[in-house]
Amino acid sequence: MNHNQTGPVTLAYYSGTGTTGKVAHLLADRFEAAGASAQCIRIRSGADLSCQPHKRLVLLFAVHACNAPAAVYDWLERLPQADGTPALVLSVSGGGEVFPNKACRCSAISRLERKGYRVDYEDMIVMPSNWIVSTREPLALMLLDVLPGKLDRIVRALAQGLSKRTRPGPVDRFTSFLGEMEKAGAKSFGHRIRVSEACTGCGLCARNCPAGNIRMTGDQSSGQAAESIASSVAGKSLLPSGSSRSPEGSSHSREGSPHCPEGSFHSPAEFSRPRFGKECHLCLSCLYLCPVKALTPGIGKFVVIPEGFSLSDLEKKEPPSIPWDVDELAKGYLWSGVKKYLQEDAGRR
Ligand SMILES: Cc1cc2nc3c(=O)[nH]c(=O)nc-3n(C[C@H](O)[C@H](O)[C@H](O)COP(=O)(O)O)c2cc1C
Ligand code: SF4
Ligand code: SF4
Repeated sequence: MNHNQTGPVTLAYYSGTGTTGKVAHLLADRFEAAGASAQCIRIRSGADLSCQPHKRLVLLFAVHACNAPAAVYDWLERLPQADGTPALVLSVSGGGEVFPNKACRCSAISRLERKGYRVDYEDMIVMPSNWIVSTREPLALMLLDVLPGKLDRIVRALAQGLSKRTRPGPVDRFTSFLGEMEKAGAKSFGHRIRVSEACTGCGLCARNCPAGNIRMTGDQSSGQAAESIASSVAGKSLLPSGSSRSPEGSSHSREGSPHCPEGSFHSPAEFSRPRFGKECHLCLSCLYLCPVKALTPGIGKFVVIPEGFSLSDLEKKEPPSIPWDVDELAKGYLWSGVKKYLQEDAGRR
């Protein structure tokens, strides 16, 4: 395919628990408001992700162990050669642009450049953490509150022809290189997820799995075959709120789908149960999404936030109206990237 400089802006994103999906859809709205057409593609293993020629590619991914998840590299491998098409790369993390995250975009960017893209802008978006330790709620709400302004500024900078590239040092690069080992551990993690008796066989975990790693037994469909994460079961959905654009760019409803109408639970006699393969990306969405908390990790329990993670629950809450005391809320090195990110923004308000 000849990728020339016409066509829409393509936003290709990898998201496990929905925060990167939210960033992608909000950014697409902003490109459209600026007069460009935009299409969103959710990167997931096994899905047909061919995209039409585009005038700009935006690659967004959740940071996993200081890198992009493996599915992003696989997608980039299959991407047709471009001829200088501009690209924006946004990493989405819980910790922000501090060590050890600083080199997290390097591998994805060099792969894009080998494909003939001209990466003119890269940045880190900080969202509530979905692993190991949760972001304190006021900070999480502030992160959601500042997001539209951050994205407006990126779109404005691109419109002005501004460029932003970073130069991570050797220590950052080495840490990122070591982080790639997480990919092997992820496969075992997923394979050893346990399913309790509480499972209703609803299939929500399988439909959302970006790795196609969950197969419902007694059911011909697998996570790979599922067409959309827009289906919602028991009111749960990963489709970013505030956007009618589906993850694949079509405009079908987010309230259920022909594949899984709401309430289509299996009767106890015909239970189908999730079975986990060895292709897990460790995105954690199945563990957090299960409406009856039927899934528990067999290994690596420390990566899962005990109280769970739900972007949609956070989005229902109001951001704090009192003046922000980011210094107080984001104490310690662990939160220094979050603090820096929020304070950059506070200066502009
Ligand atoms: C396996 C795994 C590894 C992660 N590694 C990092 C990391 O190295 N640095 C960081 O700041 N956040 C890390 N995170 C947190 C996520 O990047 C962050 O919560 C992001 O918003 C999740 O995006 P998603 O909701 O689109 O999946 C990690 C999360 C997971 C599940
Ligand atoms: S584990 Fe949970 S989400 Fe998956 S099928 Fe069972 S009840 Fe549904
Ligand atoms: S954590 Fe669960 S949903 Fe995520 S890739 Fe692994 S099996 Fe799939």
